[in-house]
Amino acid sequence: MRLVVTGGAGFIGANFVHTVVREHPHAHVTVLDAMTYAANRTSLAGLPSDRVALVEGDCAAPGVTDRLVAQLTGPQDAVVHFAAESHNDNSLATPWPFVHSNIVGTYAVLEACRSHDVRLHHVSTDEVYGDLQLDDPGRFTPATAYNPSSPYSATKAGADMLVRAWVRSFGVRATISNCSNNYGPYQHVEKFIPRQITNLLTGQRPRLYGSGANVRDWIHVDDHNSAVLRILTAGELGRTYLIGADGEHSNLQVMQMICELMGATGTDGDPGFDHVTDRPGHDLRYAIDATATREELGWEPQHTDLWDGLRRTIEWYRENRDWWEPVKESVEAKYARTEKVL
Ligand code: NAD
Ligand code: DAU
Repeated sequence: MRLVVTGGAGFIGANFVHTVVREHPHAHVTVLDAMTYAANRTSLAGLPSDRVALVEGDCAAPGVTDRLVAQLTGPQDAVVHFAAESHNDNSLATPWPFVHSNIVGTYAVLEACRSHDVRLHHVSTDEVYGDLQLDDPGRFTPATAYNPSSPYSATKAGADMLVRAWVRSFGVRATISNCSNNYGPYQHVEKFIPRQITNLLTGQRPRLYGSGANVRDWIHVDDHNSAVLRILTAGELGRTYLIGADGEHSNLQVMQMICELMGATGTDGDPGFDHVTDRPGHDLRYAIDATATREELGWEPQHTDLWDGLRRTIEWYRENRDWWEPVKESVEAKYARTEKVL
């Protein structure tokens, strides 16, 4: 099996490459990554060089994407498309890179797969469905209407629509997955969980947007990737699969868990973290109903104890300071330009 993994030097893509190398001894992976600020070469360090190659390039540039996809000639070969600008806060400040990478990038990947009749799996997000009310008993299903809120989620929704159109109009052999919030090793320190962990590791106070009532549906990155691999090998072409692990927690709850696990709970009415300026248009709640993915593909998440997953993630950031320390100061300086303590 030969795979082209776009965005494979980012958080989920790098974890995916590690999983493939570990679990598929005959697989060869070519990572195509633009090496934006979100990428890190050392996330792929230690992988066998005869099985993993990193090509630095923009997937929206048809030349490089087409050249790599053309090499996928075997029956099990495929493109797994993770590449995207992924951070909502950045999309609010500077939307253009999101339109470029997420929409034009997906277009170029689709055209290459169409030209060479190559199987594609497109990795997307639950944010395409917009948000749910906190007291809504419902969850997202593959039948939920698209209703994205941010420039990030709108560009991911646009990319999903391109994939659906290329399946129907051109017969491209593609599947789509929409997953909830991931956490685990190699996640950029701009994101919620690693930001709070690394704030505490550098003697800074954690930062909670608004009241912290917003709910996210957390899944360990290894569970997301095991579902992607299952869809790649057993999914029905043309289908959309939802991936989630029943991990709904409010941001306040997750913050309190991190503080407790790191011995940083406050005292005398001080919670130990700061409430700061809320995100404009902040989605209230995401929740995935992954019943169809579980029942049809026999997939089950393995890391569903969030306490345990957070404990292991904290340990990883403690032990891998060299991986995140070089960018920590600049990320916090960027946040400080707009963020005020409430
Ligand atoms: P990330 O920001 O950590 O990594 C994205 C990677 O894509 C980076 O290595 C970056 O350099 C690369 N990239 C960006 N633009 C590119 C381009 N034009 N050409 C080639 N490479 C490019 O993101 P992530 O959290 O690992 O997310 C990966 C994918 O999973 C994205 O498509 C995202 O929408 C989706 N997703 C993420 C989550 C989550 O919780 N993080 C949940 C569901 C879906
Ligand atoms: O739902 C899937 C999505 O999850 C993915 O598509 C995105 O790529 C990924 O970034 C993530 O989006 P969120 O916006 O939910 O993730 P983020 O880590 O930025 O924030 C999680 C929640 O925590 C959100 O409600 C905002 C809040 N937050 C975030 C930061 C960075 C804080 O309260 N404080 C913070 O410092």
